[in-house]
Amino acid sequence: MADVRTSNLPDAETAPEAPLSPTHMAIRREDYRPPDWLVPEISLKFDLGIETTRVRATLSVERNGQHDRPLNLDGDGLELVAVSVNGQPAEHQMDGPALVIDIAADRATVETEVTIHPSANTKLMGLYASNGMLCTQCEAEGFRRITFFPDRPDVLSKYTVRMEGNAAAFPILLSNGNRVAEGKGGDGRHWAEYEDPFPKPCYLFALVAGDLKANRDSFTTMSGRKVDLAIWVREADLPKTQHAMNSLKLAMAWDEKVYGREYDLDQFNIVAVSDFNMGAMENKSLNIFNSAYVLADQETATDADFDNIARVVAHEYFHNWSGDRVTCRDWFQLSLKEGFTVFRDQSFSADVGSPAVKRIEDVRVLRAAQFPEDQGPLAHPVRPDSYIEISNFYTATVYNKGAELIRMFHTVLGAEKFRKGTDLYFERHDGEAATCDDFVKALEDASGTDLSAFKIWYSQAGTPKVKARLDHEGSTATLHLEQHEDPTPRQPNKQPMPIPLKTAIIGEESGAEICPERLIVLDQPKQSFRFENVSETPLLSINRNFSAPIMITAERRPQELDKLAQADTDAFARYEAMQELMMAALTAGARGEPVDCDTVIKAISATLKSNALDPAFKAEAILVPSDTLVAERMDVVDPDAIHASRDRLRKAIADARGEELLAAHRSDGVSGDDLSPKAKGIRRLRTVALGLLSAGDEATAAELAKAQFDRADNMTDRQGALGVLVSLDAPQRQEALDAFYNRFHDDALVLDKWFALQAAAQRRDTVDQVLKLAQHPDFVITNPNRLRSLAGMFGGNHWAFHSADGRGYKFLADMIIAADKLNPQVAARMVPAFGRWRRFEPKRSAMMREALERIAATPGLSRDVYEQVSKSLA
Ligand code: BES
Ligand code: ZN
Repeated sequence: MADVRTSNLPDAETAPEAPLSPTHMAIRREDYRPPDWLVPEISLKFDLGIETTRVRATLSVERNGQHDRPLNLDGDGLELVAVSVNGQPAEHQMDGPALVIDIAADRATVETEVTIHPSANTKLMGLYASNGMLCTQCEAEGFRRITFFPDRPDVLSKYTVRMEGNAAAFPILLSNGNRVAEGKGGDGRHWAEYEDPFPKPCYLFALVAGDLKANRDSFTTMSGRKVDLAIWVREADLPKTQHAMNSLKLAMAWDEKVYGREYDLDQFNIVAVSDFNMGAMENKSLNIFNSAYVLADQETATDADFDNIARVVAHEYFHNWSGDRVTCRDWFQLSLKEGFTVFRDQSFSADVGSPAVKRIEDVRVLRAAQFPEDQGPLAHPVRPDSYIEISNFYTATVYNKGAELIRMFHTVLGAEKFRKGTDLYFERHDGEAATCDDFVKALEDASGTDLSAFKIWYSQAGTPKVKARLDHEGSTATLHLEQHEDPTPRQPNKQPMPIPLKTAIIGEESGAEICPERLIVLDQPKQSFRFENVSETPLLSINRNFSAPIMITAERRPQELDKLAQADTDAFARYEAMQELMMAALTAGARGEPVDCDTVIKAISATLKSNALDPAFKAEAILVPSDTLVAERMDVVDPDAIHASRDRLRKAIADARGEELLAAHRSDGVSGDDLSPKAKGIRRLRTVALGLLSAGDEATAAELAKAQFDRADNMTDRQGALGVLVSLDAPQRQEALDAFYNRFHDDALVLDKWFALQAAAQRRDTVDQVLKLAQHPDFVITNPNRLRSLAGMFGGNHWAFHSADGRGYKFLADMIIAADKLNPQVAARMVPAFGRWRRFEPKRSAMMREALERIAATPGLSRDVYEQVSKSLA
């Protein structure tokens, strides 16, 4: 780590006086020490104002163990007014941003008073203002921006919160737990008091004050307790909250049924805010959501938006057990709550929708976001060993690979033993701050299974690569497997991993499962497995349902893949065969090798015509892998070559199978308010088919797209059509963009789509369009959703971002530098677009590196961006 830490700091010889700034220091997991002082109780009093808020905190502190270290309270940007200990003004020092107080006794009452400035808080961490309301975001280390406190997840306290403010500006006052008192003050002020009976770490504290209205409902738990539910939004948004409410009730029932987990308080609140760094936050009984994951109706939200809302509502609700009742000992254990809760929300979405399609979507996210991360300079284990800024570790690795790890435990143990394990985990650690090891131990103890070999998945970074070959002789087939793990930063030497592979053999003639699915675990560098009673030519179906998060290369001919794409008994494996077939064509094309389009076309045609497959699955199966996914398979990335190869394949498909695509595009009318999986599937296939058609005759496709756009009675069809049109050169393009803007420019979430669609456009002038949009009066760099819609989206537009003239790089680097001054957390999340610079052809590689160096050289860089950039360059 030394290189990373010191490269941007004053060199000791040229600046001998300058104390080494603690700002860019790495925190290491091995340095964990229990807290010196505990805080069993805290009482907070807020005097609320948009510009200035006064916070008085009363902490009961308790020495933890035998030591004479002072009480050290984290702070960040707080204006200290007063400090007292046991009611007396107290001696104290500042250690950088921290407040240090010597306390002789083992117990004391410490009071502090600070002022903070919510409307000036552009980082959106701590207490901040959004559209006239006040709200908080404390995970991971935002509480220290509200008051002085040991800001670490293993300090659990009982909270009492009193807040007071102007009743007209803040008619609604909310915090965690139960509302125990309220009243009126002078001067049009009022106050409310809350008590949370469950001790919690400070990152779960929340407060909201504003002019909000509630959609109210209730849920009766399995033990018969009635819970009052409320979703708080601006009055005008109330009609858009019903889907979130329905999702919440489904999630509450699901957690009872599948995990035996019941809600534990009498109230559960969700608040929507339009300025939010992340998707949503699981604060105890007062979840705060990015409005994008609450508000939806048929006219403004797509099917994907509806699904995301259900998923995020469920995810945050599930944290009540996997996160709140059992929290993390330290931030290195983040996947304990996030990986597990993502696995839980994935299972929920699969159960309420289509499991096969859900699995396909989850794997696509993993491959597009986590695999590149795991093979680039920002690779880290699911349980990291060190960090400079913890916000940078809310990654696809901690979340999505972490969820795959939990899924492997589930696969290996089976549903029943897994459930026994989670029961034991919740029982054993309720009210505690636990570790990933604790989780595995509970699974082991409850199931009587030794899982120690699997723990390497927590500590070893990188995606295992597996080669598979099936030999056939007589009635025996032998599967030869080899695994390989590439070095990653700070982990040069790798061990083999245990890789659970669901495997079956399909008969080439019969298309039947001639050897039924079995779970094999590859745990050696090389291993062979025998399959008996093989009565016909065998086809290998492996890593079924994506049982392990690995990259697998199986030796299979195009004809075999075509057969598997139609016949495999595992839906995911059918999808995978199709993707492999297309990927082989795409990578060959990108390398300038001859391409066999015919087998791909044949397979797509068979899929489209199949009566056995539902439309949602068809849409996924015929979707041509994105440029980003193709780039992952290339040794040297040439974005133009990849894009051209993809265009050629799409055009070949469109030219050969236009009629069938047109039929899929026109498939029977479903009403826009029908949100059944079937209706969603039909809409998805309609737009996917349109997208393929647009690679053929552009003018016809533009007409079809404009017709879909004009006729649409729902946002899915409308956005789908516009998404195709933005990449075409047709008069309908601008007409549709203007119509969309004129109709929806007052709806921030829909306007985000307008920006995002243009930033994602596949065209030569996308960089110019994006530069123009950055000057648009509706572009607001301080709003994370808007910034992500333009700059974040553009960073993921492979062909445009990597435009050969380097202007895409310049644009994003400028954006990161500008955003960093306002909101480092959001700025840092855009850096990984540059991360894989070493893999690009020399010219682009050099330009990407220069862009990173330019960011690194910017004075006053945040710790967040500093870490991402310096690690990317290391
Ligand atoms: N605990 C996180 C929110 C969070 C993340 C706060 C990072 C602070 C920093 C929350 O539970 C979460 O994981 N939200 C996800 C959505 C979820 C469905 C995966 C998010 O915000 O993206
Ligand atoms: Zn989460």
